[in-house]
Amino acid sequence: MTAVITKNQKLLSKQAESIQSKVPTIAVVKNDAYNFGLKETYEAFYKAGIRSFTTTNLKEAIELRQLDGTITVLLLDPSLAFDELREYQITATIPSLDYYRKYRADLEGIPVHLVFKNDLNRLGFTSSSDMQAVLDDSKINVTGLWTHFGYADDFESAHYVREVENWNRVLDDLNDYLPKLSCIHAQNSASYARDGLHDRHTHIRCGVFLYGSRPYYHGIDQKNARQTVEVSANVIELSDVKKGENAGYSTAFTASEDTRLAVCDIGYGNGLMPGRKAFPVIINGKEWPIRVMMMSHLLVEVDETVAVGDEVILYNGETLRFDWFTEQGLGSFSQQMAALNVRTFTERFISC
Ligand SMILES: Cc1ncc(COP(=O)(O)O)c(C=O)c1O
Repeated sequence: MTAVITKNQKLLSKQAESIQSKVPTIAVVKNDAYNFGLKETYEAFYKAGIRSFTTTNLKEAIELRQLDGTITVLLLDPSLAFDELREYQITATIPSLDYYRKYRADLEGIPVHLVFKNDLNRLGFTSSSDMQAVLDDSKINVTGLWTHFGYADDFESAHYVREVENWNRVLDDLNDYLPKLSCIHAQNSASYARDGLHDRHTHIRCGVFLYGSRPYYHGIDQKNARQTVEVSANVIELSDVKKGENAGYSTAFTASEDTRLAVCDIGYGNGLMPGRKAFPVIINGKEWPIRVMMMSHLLVEVDETVAVGDEVILYNGETLRFDWFTEQGLGSFSQQMAALNVRTFTERFISC
């Protein structure tokens, strides 16, 4: 028996279609499409009508281009691999005036987007006048502008409003250039769910919502976020522990009464977040607490109704949803998905 990851490409495509049919979407497919699989995700999103894809990773950008010669492939991170960018017609990101000055000649023949740094302070131009200098250069093929809102998921602070204002001022300053650009994008899933598409923007740039996770928990109906990944394991043994006995390494668990533990074939080595231990699993439709998490095993407290061979559900589309765990403080959808060590699972794939 092996732990199982179920990837539902059909639901993935449906979910993407529910968004793309309302707003032109650039699909974020970095980190092997949040571990769903780049090719499978490209197929689902393409079927949903999405024609623009983006990643931070040149290798993934080239893979996307090899899958499809017609889509737009945007590389979010700056790159110095100019020959490959040109050969594969990957839209590059210019991250600063210095980069532009240094590599101006190398950038010929490569479509580019300019990124504004904003409050995230990761990469980007710091002023609209610097961006204007590039837009005025007829040798550089600027096809788009973007920024990233680092606070859209954060309802506690007023920071999101400030970064939107910063960006709108940049767009005001560059207003005359906007009609010539095919792609102006700033909003991630949370920003789109909060505001819809902002004025003057052509696309949203969406990750988690496309994959079926609510970017925030309250105020978005669960049926609008179809969970596309499920994770399960198996009961491989039952271990009866007497009151006062320990189980797991270094007395990880001490039984306060006679206890039956189900040994399950999944652990942090499969990529479960360590904090997952605080939340139950489902066996035979009932929730049971995890008492110990090891690299390849969980010890789950059960009763006599649980048998060897029973399925143990870690993530499903109902109560054990990625976005519910995020709400409980376990980590974002991206963190939970990126952590999964997909190679250790048997994969069950439901194709579109
Ligand atoms: C630059 C950029 N744009 C868009 C996204 C997508 O964000 P979300 O998954 O919240 O939609 C990310 C995610 O990390 C990102 O780094």
